[in-house]
Amino acid sequence: MAALALATALAGGCAHQPAPPRSDALYHDLGGDAGITAIVEGLLYKMVDDPRIAHHFADADIINLRQRLIEQICFESGGPCVYEGLDMQESHAGRNISEAEFNALVEDLIDVMEERSVDVGAQNRLLRRLAPMQPDIVRQ
Ligand code: HEM
Repeated sequence: MAALALATALAGGCAHQPAPPRSDALYHDLGGDAGITAIVEGLLYKMVDDPRIAHHFADADIINLRQRLIEQICFESGGPCVYEGLDMQESHAGRNISEAEFNALVEDLIDVMEERSVDVGAQNRLLRRLAPMQPDIVRQ
């Protein structure tokens, strides 16, 4: 049983990350594909304009980042998507991201969801899905 759990965690690419929800309720509460696309695009605008974190994205491939974030949030919310990007440790290693910078990005995400009138319960459910990624993203 332990071996199976380990194999499942490794196949998922990240030992910290729980399996996606079985229900697609959160995906629908975020507005499905259209809603998630709008959230990600709003977040990208805020990130590149946020003096606390903008410098990290100076050389970023924003087109790729947009696509990966849409897939990831769709997947994490139980939607019909496969995340095809790098795992969170790989994609953030060596970027020297601080906890304060991580929190700044989360604040930007909350602002976008507020602006789009996403239900507060749905906001919190999404944040609970993203929170376990923090140790893989923030510098050790
Ligand atoms: C929950 C929080 C976060 C999530 C879900 C997330 C998600 C992602 C994803 C999906 C990618 C694309 C991986 C790929 O290319 O396959 C990525 C890349 C990246 N992330 Fe994050 N990230 C988070 C936090 C942060 C923070 C706080 C920063 C910096 C302040 C950051 C900076 C970057 C950078 C610079 C890239 C590479 C972009 C490029 O060059 O294409 N991320 N992230």
